[in-house]
Amino acid sequence: LWQLLPRPKSQPPLVWHWIPFLGSAATYGRDPIGFFRQCREKSFIMQMPLLQYGNCFTFILLGKRVTVTLGTRGNDYVLGGKHTQLAAEDVYSPLTTPVFGKDVVYDCPNEKLMEQKRFVKVSLTIDKFRAYVGMIEDEIKGYLETDPKFRVYQMDDINEWGAFPVLEVFSEMTILTASRTLQGREIRERLTKDYAQVYHDLDHGFTPLHWMIPNLPLPSYRKRDAAQAKMSAFYQSILRHRREHPEEHQDDDVMASLMKQRYRDGTPLRDHEIAHILIALLMAGQHTSSSSLAWTMLHIADRQDIQEALYEEQVKHFGTPDGGLRDITYDELRDLKVLDAVVRETLRLHPPIHSIMRMAHEDIPVPATLAAPSEDVTYVVPKGDIVMASPIVSQLDPTVWEDAETWEPLRWYDDKGVAAQAHKQYNEGEKIDFGFGLVSKGTVSPYLPFGAGRHRCIGEQFAYLQISTAICALIRRLELKLESDFPKSDYESMMVQPLPCKILYRRRKFD
Ligand code: HEM
Repeated sequence: LWQLLPRPKSQPPLVWHWIPFLGSAATYGRDPIGFFRQCREKSFIMQMPLLQYGNCFTFILLGKRVTVTLGTRGNDYVLGGKHTQLAAEDVYSPLTTPVFGKDVVYDCPNEKLMEQKRFVKVSLTIDKFRAYVGMIEDEIKGYLETDPKFRVYQMDDINEWGAFPVLEVFSEMTILTASRTLQGREIRERLTKDYAQVYHDLDHGFTPLHWMIPNLPLPSYRKRDAAQAKMSAFYQSILRHRREHPEEHQDDDVMASLMKQRYRDGTPLRDHEIAHILIALLMAGQHTSSSSLAWTMLHIADRQDIQEALYEEQVKHFGTPDGGLRDITYDELRDLKVLDAVVRETLRLHPPIHSIMRMAHEDIPVPATLAAPSEDVTYVVPKGDIVMASPIVSQLDPTVWEDAETWEPLRWYDDKGVAAQAHKQYNEGEKIDFGFGLVSKGTVSPYLPFGAGRHRCIGEQFAYLQISTAICALIRRLELKLESDFPKSDYESMMVQPLPCKILYRRRKFD
């Protein structure tokens, strides 16, 4: 009942909950977007509408106070905040450090993370991207030709339909393509052997439970820690081998590039740091890219008109006089309008990360424009609160986007439309150097699938390339349709992914 007692006007409203420690964990965990929307609109006690919280409110999540700021201004408040006031590492480190390892990303001061982001950025050059396109297509082709889940494709019968499990297939394709390109030759070669089990154990330690309670005497925790140690040792043994036998290693991959980098004070990266950065890239890219690819392919399977437009685009750009299709190139990929629209629209509707969090290091006032419903109130987020933004809420806001809940790539064709403007704000806004090169601050756009500001995703261009090339490689070879109704979102794992489902496929006639 203390929740009904009068509270200081400066505190954001507290979401009503029945069980003290648990708070709103169950409702938030089941459907975070529905929960945010309901809180913004109204709160209910025994079906009775009680309060309109507006865009800023606090809820209890397993004993922690979480203050949510919604809308474009809410996103700007969290993503554009000063890192001395709003720190990402305090919130993310319990999840990421046991998985990535020590001294990288959120297990080091923010300035060091910015340097590590710069190292990765200089490792991902356009020249490398040019080479990656062929490698990605090659991996997808090889997978279709050898994996038992594509038995019908391998039979060479263009009339028969087969079915493949969406989550499994796109997760496997993503790890194959990422390890072939980003992770390097040695990792790709070991992928089908012991590395796969180690990856599996590590991945099972990357869940909301492991985040909320970082250490428990359970097998998944023990396996996570053993897998991290094993994977780190494996990368470090590759590093030693490369250093001791330079004549055998002409590789021009991310590891080779990291081995040459120096921090500003002149010190090189230590072996375990290089190993842990590579693990971080693997883990940060895997679920985000695989769920984005899965959602994209599901929508393509659902919309035959867009599927045909994508195929026609391939024929138009890559068709050869004998009726075949030549290899995809990086430079031409960027000109494929339908493909670009399809990826952008999927990331609008299904950004894999639904909640972006920081820890308030001091009391921080919330701008009055955010503190609706009554604009004369100025809230203060107290020190120690987790502050949370949810860009997906703006990406689905019906006051911004027409027919907001519908997957409609055509909205991206209009150069003067809302989508194009949002994209422009995101990518061409104020440019700031956070220590890893100039990036667009872009924090006030209603379209932020890769986050914004100093923590903006470092894998954005790579992910675009990986997803786009995979779509081309698949659409050239397969016709697709849904096996059943379009799947709903599963919010229970770390990323928003589709609930288990299948896609039907058959071989394209002119493959
Ligand atoms: C950060 C989205 C792929 C590496 C982020 C953030 C978002 C995001 C929203 C910001 C998190 C925050 O502000 O708290 C995505 C999406 C992807 C994707 C939608 C694919 C479709 C990748 C890939 C890599 C990667 C492929 C690695 C190659 C990272 C890293 C960070 C990050 C290291 C942390 C940056 C920091 O805290 O400063 N990503 N990501 N991501 N992403 Fe991605």
